[in-house]
Amino acid sequence: MTDIAIIGAGAWGTALSMVAARKGGHRVRLWAFEEEVCESIRARRVNERFLSGLTMPEGVGVTRDLGEAVAGADMVVSVMPSHHCRGVFRGLAPHLRREMLFVSATKGIEEDSLLRMTEVVATTIESVSGFRPRIAALSGPSFAREVARGDPTAITVASEDAEVAQAVQIALSDPRLRIYTNDDVIGVELGGSLKNVIAIAAGVCDGLGLGHNSAAALITRGLAEMTRLVVACGGRSETMAGLAGLGDLVLTCTGGLSRNRSVGEQLGKGNKLADIIEGMHGMVAEGVPTTNAAVGLAKRHKVEMPITERMWEVLHEGKPPAEAMHELMTRSVKSESGARV
Ligand SMILES: NC(=O)c1ccc[n+]([C@@H]2O[C@H](COP(=O)([O-])OP(=O)(O)OC[C@H]3O[C@@H](n4cnc5c(N)ncnc54)[C@H](O)[C@@H]3O)[C@@H](O)[C@H]2O)c1
Repeated sequence: MTDIAIIGAGAWGTALSMVAARKGGHRVRLWAFEEEVCESIRARRVNERFLSGLTMPEGVGVTRDLGEAVAGADMVVSVMPSHHCRGVFRGLAPHLRREMLFVSATKGIEEDSLLRMTEVVATTIESVSGFRPRIAALSGPSFAREVARGDPTAITVASEDAEVAQAVQIALSDPRLRIYTNDDVIGVELGGSLKNVIAIAAGVCDGLGLGHNSAAALITRGLAEMTRLVVACGGRSETMAGLAGLGDLVLTCTGGLSRNRSVGEQLGKGNKLADIIEGMHGMVAEGVPTTNAAVGLAKRHKVEMPITERMWEVLHEGKPPAEAMHELMTRSVKSESGARV
């Protein structure tokens, strides 16, 4: 029996709470930021705001109190959007204990510090609670709605501490969610974050009315630039060929449920970013802030990321999407491995 606290009741936190509860044998509590989410789950067993139409098991308890959420927990899974991670952990820190295992299921990079989410969680806990937490990152191709309804899904849990990765694997795997372990935390976390930027570009292609050739080119060359940055940051290229790299990239660039792809599609159709974000009613598209962080990391490590850089210009400098695509196609010709011909 594992006592699991899930911090963040958006679509993904809600789906993970359903996975943990349906497996049985766990005590599961979900921390929600919004009172309306708590009320909706308590009264109707549905998170109407973030994951409508899917009934949650009775076993999921819900609270708005951070201390109550983690009291007695063996495992604390953080699933808030990346820009809220540090603030939420500052609030959580006084309630945390050294024995707890931590899992970050957020896909993003902190914009100012350029830290990955496990680094944000670990440094915040260390500075406020005074201990270095045992931590893992959970990532891979997983639309929350499909996981919640039980479609077979495979994802990855990465930790430098094999025991932590295995504990998470055992606690959350079931016949509908297959979890692989990995020790490349950098690759798994950066893969899950950077793919959202390429998904925006894939959406731009769709919005411009371009066909499958363009999408395939973006996915493949997107993977090449993601891999360059991951390797420069200390991750492994083979991780990028796995679930947290190629797997999640394919899902996000082609799947109809992808918010980041949808943001790109609307940009491609000529809509303004501010209007697109407003239309999402508080749901996050991590690819937008991740584009800034990715450009920052690419500069720091002197890595060329042409697709990511063009997306930054589309998002923040108002570059017309068609011009960005034209620029990508008219760069100096190269060999596929990167050398100029
Ligand atoms: N949705 C998916 O299918 C999916 C799948 C895998 C990973 N993820 C990742 O999970 C993370 C969470 O995304 P999501 O889709 O569950 O979120 P969401 O867009 O469904 O919900 C937004 C979340 O932000 C929270 N929030 C709003 N204001 C807040 C505040 N001031 N403090 C703390 N929290 C606040 C809300 O409570 C809610 O949990 C993201 O990093 C996302 O990339 C999402």
